[in-house]
Parts: sequence; structure tokens; C-alpha cells
Amino acid sequence: MTSNPGNSEKIATTRLGANGPEVGVQGLGCMGMSWAYGPTDDPDEARATLERALELGVTLYDTANVYGREEGENEQFIAPFVRSHRDEVVLATKYSLSWDADEPAKRIIRNDPPYIRRCAEDSLRRLGVETIDLYYMHRRDVSVPLEESVGAMAELVQEGKVRYLGLSEVTAAELRTAHEVHPVAAVQSEWSLFSRDVEDGVVEAARELDVAFVPYSPLGRGFLTGSFVNAETELTSDDFRKTQPRFTGGNASANAELLEPVRKIAGSRGATPGQIALAWVQQQAALRGMTVVPIPGTRRRSRVEENAAATRIELSEDELALLEPIAGRVAGDRYPDMSFTSAGRE
Ligand SMILES: NC(=O)c1ccc[n+]([C@@H]2O[C@H](COP(=O)([O-])OP(=O)(O)OC[C@H]3O[C@@H](n4cnc5c(N)ncnc54)[C@H](OP(=O)(O)O)[C@@H]3O)[C@@H](O)[C@H]2O)c1
Repeated sequence: MTSNPGNSEKIATTRLGANGPEVGVQGLGCMGMSWAYGPTDDPDEARATLERALELGVTLYDTANVYGREEGENEQFIAPFVRSHRDEVVLATKYSLSWDADEPAKRIIRNDPPYIRRCAEDSLRRLGVETIDLYYMHRRDVSVPLEESVGAMAELVQEGKVRYLGLSEVTAAELRTAHEVHPVAAVQSEWSLFSRDVEDGVVEAARELDVAFVPYSPLGRGFLTGSFVNAETELTSDDFRKTQPRFTGGNASANAELLEPVRKIAGSRGATPGQIALAWVQQQAALRGMTVVPIPGTRRRSRVEENAAATRIELSEDELALLEPIAGRVAGDRYPDMSFTSAGRE
């Protein structure tokens, strides 16, 4: 399923879904360059990270209209890079989420066709490109029939505004329904050593349909690297992780202890804990016979190098067995409000 470039610095490649584009087996999450995980005060380093990733064979770049302090900020940030490497980059963006102007902490989810069209046109304008390579529904709005929303996305494909379709945080049944309306190239949901709820159906549905799985937050939003334990006391005031139940209070210290086997394997291999976490999620491709393209997010060149190198680590059966129990012991939900996820939907 993957092709290995031998001794080259570049990572291996794979196909994003049955008929999708070829991409590096690891992508780059760009969200943190504009928002969510602490200060974004070194844009030059973030820009250099975009370039360094491409040199390493990372070609799937992930953004969304909602990433930023204002709509489109992250799309605008990566736009010059994307335009200057248009043929090498597979550009993924998303619609459906926005912030409530009256209640800034509240997110609004919309999936109606006129809104989808408007979002796509806004993203195309901000990015300064003619086509979005991979256009995701970021969240499902259950008040709109899925067929209508995917139908609207399919129209964008027919018009040449979008090349491939993706869905984020959907159930297995939703993925199957959407795939009947129009082929889906990728499903993007949280999947890591700490977050394995997608294994209750949607991973298997993606495998069966030959839809690529794009794990977001494969480093557990940085927690699996060991770079912080308690978000409340260690991270800056605007950091989104301060609101996440897993990284606060007693949950944070209990969850940090679960990293012990990750550290142990990392130590014995001369790797970092983050690399072991990435290797675990990457290896699900071979273990399950499907396409898996994790998109770790970073704003730093040194980390994109470290993360790309993790694609070359193959964990042994014993190591996988040591890591297996971790997710079942994690304390706290993924989000403060789990209605923001696919949990609880059929
Ligand atoms: N579809 C969705 O609903 C959804 C939700 C969340 C995220 N996403 C997408 O998925 C991407 C990745 O997820 P994520 O950013 O939430 O989480 P992640 O990739 O699990 O972790 C990112 C965090 O880890 C740090 N980090 C990265 N590499 C590191 C390393 N080698 N050593 C130590 N720390 C490291 C980053 O900090 P530095 O930047 O300082 O390196 C950042 O704080 C996002 O950028 C976004 O594009 C999608």
C-alpha cells in the first residue's frame, strides 16, 4: 500500500483513498500556527516549518476556515506557501464550524448547501487557489440530511472547485451514507494511543470502503510527547488545552503516569515518546490493511523533522502489547462538550 523511497530523506508515500492523490504517509496539521496551542509569535519559524515539511516529503497540509482568532486566519497564513508549491501540495481545508459572535466560546455548526458553497468560495479566495484538493465537512449538523450536504459538496467537485471529499468526526453509518452519494477520499477524526473510540466502527468502515483515515491530534495535542502534564498550571491563558478534561486537575497527573510504557520504549530505541506515539498510529495502516495518514501539528522545523522520522519506526509485537492498555485507562473526555463529536450518534 505504501511505497518506500529507499535512502532518500523523503518519507514514503501512499494513496489517499481508492482514487485519491498520492501523499506522504504523514501530513502536517497547520492549526497551531495561527491559534489554539499557545503563542503564535514566530511566524517566520512556522513558515520555515511548512517548507521543511515539504522537503521531507510531507505533502498533505491540513487547515480549516475556523482555525484562527478570526475566520480564515490560518488559511491566509499558509496561502503564500501553498501558491508557491501548488503542484506539490495536497491542500485540505474544512467548512461547517464558526464562532458565535454573541457568545465567543460557543461554536456554531452548519451544513446547509448555500452555506457550504459560500464557505468553499471564501476559502478559495483566501487561499488564492482555483481548487481545494480535499474539502472536509468539519462537523455534522444533524438538522440537515447528510445526503443534502454531501450532494452540495459533490456539486463543488463537478464545478472543479474541489477535487476530493472528506468528513471529520462522523460515525461509520454516516461515512457509508456519504460514500453512496459521492466517493469519500478521507475521514479525519481523533486517533492516537490515548483516543481510540474510532476503533468502534468508523475505522473498519474506512478500511472496507478504501477511504483513507487521517488521524488528527495523533500526539494527543502534545500530551503524548511529555512536553506538559497539567494544562491549567503549565500552559498560557489562551491555550485551548486548558479546557480539555484530560489535561486538567487529577486527570492530568493520572494520565501522565500512563505514558510510562511510551517512555520506556522510546528510551530503549533512542527515540522520543512523541515518535513512539506517531509510530503506533502510523503502524495501524499495516496492521489493519488500510491507508492511515496522521497529521501531527507543529510550528517548528526541528519537530517536523522528528515527527517525519517516526514514519520509519516499526514497533514490535511486544512493544505494541505494552501500549495496548493505555487508551482504556485514560481519565477524562476528549472535549469538554462531547456533543461536539460523533459520540452518541448512530
Ligand atoms: N478535524 C478536527 O476536528 C481537528 C481537531 C483538532 C486538530 N485537527 C487538525 O489536526 C492537526 C494535528 O492535531 P493537533 O495539532 O490538535 O494535535 P497533535 O498533532 O497531537 O499535537 C500538536 C501539539 O504537539 C506539539 N508537538 C508537535 N510535535 C512535537 C514534538 N515532536 N515534540 C513535542 N511537541 C510536539 C505542538 O507544539 P509546537 O507547534 O510548538 O511544536 C502542538 O502543541 C491540527 O493542526 C489540525 O490541522 C483537526
